[in-house]
Amino acid sequence: MTMNTFLSILLSISFLYMSSIYTFEHTSPQRILITGGAGFLGSHLCDRCIQEGHFVICADNLSTGRLENIEHLLNHPNFVFLYHDVCDPFDAALVVDQIYNMACPASPPHYQKSAD
Ligand SMILES: NC(=O)c1ccc[n+]([C@@H]2O[C@H](COP(=O)([O-])OP(=O)(O)OC[C@H]3O[C@@H](n4cnc5c(N)ncnc54)[C@H](O)[C@@H]3O)[C@@H](O)[C@H]2O)c1
Repeated sequence: MTMNTFLSILLSISFLYMSSIYTFEHTSPQRILITGGAGFLGSHLCDRCIQEGHFVICADNLSTGRLENIEHLLNHPNFVFLYHDVCDPFDAALVVDQIYNMACPASPPHYQKSAD
């Protein structure tokens, strides 16, 4: 076996090993908390995370968001909706791997109203 053949076999093995690690990391299901998940951006993020096979907890107080945005996910086995205001503490038993915070009114009339 020439040195070139040996090196190319070694490279192929390393590549296969690296791609298996990459695939594992990106398919391993995560528990993801999305606050403001019933809003415009949050609901799309919920969709994306569910599509990728993750377990999603969507917490929202529905101040500007709508249940209609996540209606199609409500019966999904990997999806939980939590009616919750992020100004209040979460139950300590809530253990998650990732948190995305979208819980903020986007338009000035809404967030100025919240400031009152
Ligand atoms: N929409 C955009 O194009 C855009 C662009 C850049 C940044 N952002 C930012 O992203 C965030 C989300 O934007 P959006 O367009 O999805 O707004 P949105 O109003 O549709 O969503 C906000 C969600 O948060 C919820 N929420 C608000 N206060 C809450 C609280 N105290 N507890 C729990 N839930 C609460 C609302 O009910 C709603 O579902 C905002 O901070 C906005 O400024 C939005």
